[in-house]
Amino acid sequence: MSNRVFNFSAGPAMLPTEVLEASAKALVDYQGKGFGIAECSHRGKEFDAVLDEAIDRCKKLLSVPDTHDVLFLQGGATQLFSTIPMNFLNGTAEYVVGGEWGKKAAAAARDAYGEKVRVIASSEETKFDRPPTGWKADPNAAYLHVCSNETVHGHRLAEWPEHATLVVDASSEMMSRPHPVSRTAIIYAGAQKNLGPAGVVLAIVRKDLYERIGKGVPKIFNFKAHADAKSCLNTPPTFGIYFLLETFRWLDAQGGLAAIEKRNAEKAALLYAAIDGSGGYYKGTVADKSARSHMNVTFTLPSEEVTDKFIKEAAKNSMMALKGYRTVGGIRASIYNAMPVAGCKALADFMGTFAKANG
Ligand SMILES: Cc1ncc(COP(=O)(O)O)c(C=O)c1O
Repeated sequence: MSNRVFNFSAGPAMLPTEVLEASAKALVDYQGKGFGIAECSHRGKEFDAVLDEAIDRCKKLLSVPDTHDVLFLQGGATQLFSTIPMNFLNGTAEYVVGGEWGKKAAAAARDAYGEKVRVIASSEETKFDRPPTGWKADPNAAYLHVCSNETVHGHRLAEWPEHATLVVDASSEMMSRPHPVSRTAIIYAGAQKNLGPAGVVLAIVRKDLYERIGKGVPKIFNFKAHADAKSCLNTPPTFGIYFLLETFRWLDAQGGLAAIEKRNAEKAALLYAAIDGSGGYYKGTVADKSARSHMNVTFTLPSEEVTDKFIKEAAKNSMMALKGYRTVGGIRASIYNAMPVAGCKALADFMGTFAKANG
């Protein structure tokens, strides 16, 4: 794959070449058996071994304790915005809203459960330019929901908060660094940023939560039913799960999540240095620098006109999908695990040259 570009898409996003190649091979002919991994039963021995290895590797990578299950679900992270309250909201749930995704999660819960859903902090007043600060959650809330990396606005919770029942939408930073799974009730992520193709949601769920699930929850949305069936309640997205297994193998080969975190910090630092060293030509959109995302780097240029020019010229230099989200504008460079350091170097160099030529 010699013609690969540096793809800065926010998701579906760039995936590691080695993982794409291994998955493509398994799609055509799985281990020389004459059939592909997407062509065999989810109840057969081949796929069962895939599931076992994927769960095992996920547990090792993230140090998932035996108190938690690893689930492969469907419906995107958006479906979990609804199924999490459906299963686990008894009492009042609290939401911290730092951006579009936190807001969507809270709105979905509120639509269904009204006053039982409380937004305890929001940074919407400052156009979500930072995570909300200075809030205190009720320790007795049914759960506290946060989005740990706001994909649209480019900021993250450098440290995840403490709560007895912490629920984290980690869609855009899953496995980009080690996560404190043992003190988290639920972590969930749509696969299409750091893990694989769209269609799979990785969810890590603390088992004691299942006791809260009411009788009225339809089985297909019931987390315990999925756990009891080892994610095979119905036909799961078998190829997507296989792809995740290849990603987990790749992450291990990279040295695990601590090594990945280090590389991601190095990549992000290259781009933030290009922004901060531009004499104000590029402006970071995140007010609190300590909260800058290591996955989605957002910044603006002096005008829309030069922004369009930047995007077009970058594309000519094999750097694609840099346009910012429609409500934020500017540029968003998504630099998930698969983005090599060379991609961030190339973009940082291009930023320097472009600012000189157009400043
Ligand atoms: C943080 C976050 N949460 C949720 C979603 C929604 O994911 P899905 O499209 O899989 O429902 C996204 C998608 O970009 C996201 O970035």
